[in-house]
Amino acid sequence: MIAYASRTGNVRYIVSRLGLPAAEIGADVTLEEPFLLITYTDGIGEIPHQVKQFLESNGAYCRGVIVSGNSNFGHHVFGGAGDAISQQWQIPLVRKVEMRGFPEDYEAIHQYYERCFREERVR
Ligand SMILES: Cc1cc2nc3c(=O)[nH]c(=O)nc-3n(C[C@H](O)[C@H](O)[C@H](O)COP(=O)(O)O)c2cc1C
Repeated sequence: MIAYASRTGNVRYIVSRLGLPAAEIGADVTLEEPFLLITYTDGIGEIPHQVKQFLESNGAYCRGVIVSGNSNFGHHVFGGAGDAISQQWQIPLVRKVEMRGFPEDYEAIHQYYERCFREERVR
């Protein structure tokens, strides 16, 4: 399962291209199963507010974070939401993606997803 947040459509596009089961993060969304999170970066390298709220109640099921950003904001804050989430919730940072990403990003996300949920099933 993928949980995602998108404001201007880049992450939504990534999710649609991945073709994996996905749920958009909303006010009352609760997931009771493991998931990968895909989010955008807000502010100056910040976690979007609704993503922070979502993680407060669902963070324990999050197996990895993929972040979309725009490198024009500067190297030190590029995809900063991913660094912050990884640090605060001890979640592996799987990939930083420039805007809608490139084929190698999709490949890396698919590989991580397969590995993650294959391992999850045998537990
Ligand atoms: C107000 C605002 C602040 C942003 N701040 C950052 C930032 O600090 N670092 C970064 O890498 N990208 C930043 N971005 C870029 C977005 O994270 C990036 O465009 C992302 O692909 C948007 O995903 P979405 O279209 O799914 O909302 C910012 C965008 C906006 C509009």
